[in-house]
Amino acid sequence: MAGMGSETEIEEGALFATQLFSRQLPASESAALNAALLFAIKDLFEADRTGIERSNLRALGGWHSQLGLHRQPAFAPLVTHIDAFAAEISRRNGYSTRHRLAITGMWAIVNAPGSYNQTHVHPGSHWSGAYYVQAPEGSGDITFTDPRTEAMMQPLLHEGPRPEALRHHVSVPPVAGRMLMFPSWLQHGVKPNLSRARGGAAERVVTSFNLSQQPLSGPPAA
Ligand SMILES: [Fe+2]
Repeated sequence: MAGMGSETEIEEGALFATQLFSRQLPASESAALNAALLFAIKDLFEADRTGIERSNLRALGGWHSQLGLHRQPAFAPLVTHIDAFAAEISRRNGYSTRHRLAITGMWAIVNAPGSYNQTHVHPGSHWSGAYYVQAPEGSGDITFTDPRTEAMMQPLLHEGPRPEALRHHVSVPPVAGRMLMFPSWLQHGVKPNLSRARGGAAERVVTSFNLSQQPLSGPPAA
């Protein structure tokens, strides 16, 4: 009986892709940016140690700032990086050139050792992202969950680890100077901070943000 022929006859496609964009800023850029952001975030923390509660667990040492950081001058350099990244996503995805992905909210999260973020989505936005300001080893991967729950119903056995495209949970370690962007509907959470660093160096510090597609000629972003 004839076999399937050479492998070149088989074409593999990927339907319903879930995009995850990542960009690592060169250290020559991120070092000064992160030092300034860390300073600004510590200032915010000192002025509002209570913060707000969202996916963070305040009782475990997870601090969450207020939501309007994109309007504060100290975060303007980061806003520039996000805008450029968002424009590139719009270009690659062929989005309307009469619209832009505009930042609608930005906040900072500081996870002390032992704290984490519960799994959540960002309702009402198109794209969301994270920029890592400080991320010591073991301070908590961000974990994305397959939104196609049907795909989890018939687990198949694999030799060794599953290829990433077939996983239902994908973890990405935080790296200082790295920016991630993903659809706002994608469920994600953050594993506990198990850093063994000392003092403030053990904290996982991230700035997160939401973007929505808005007309270029429309009113400025909130
Ligand atoms: Fe989030």
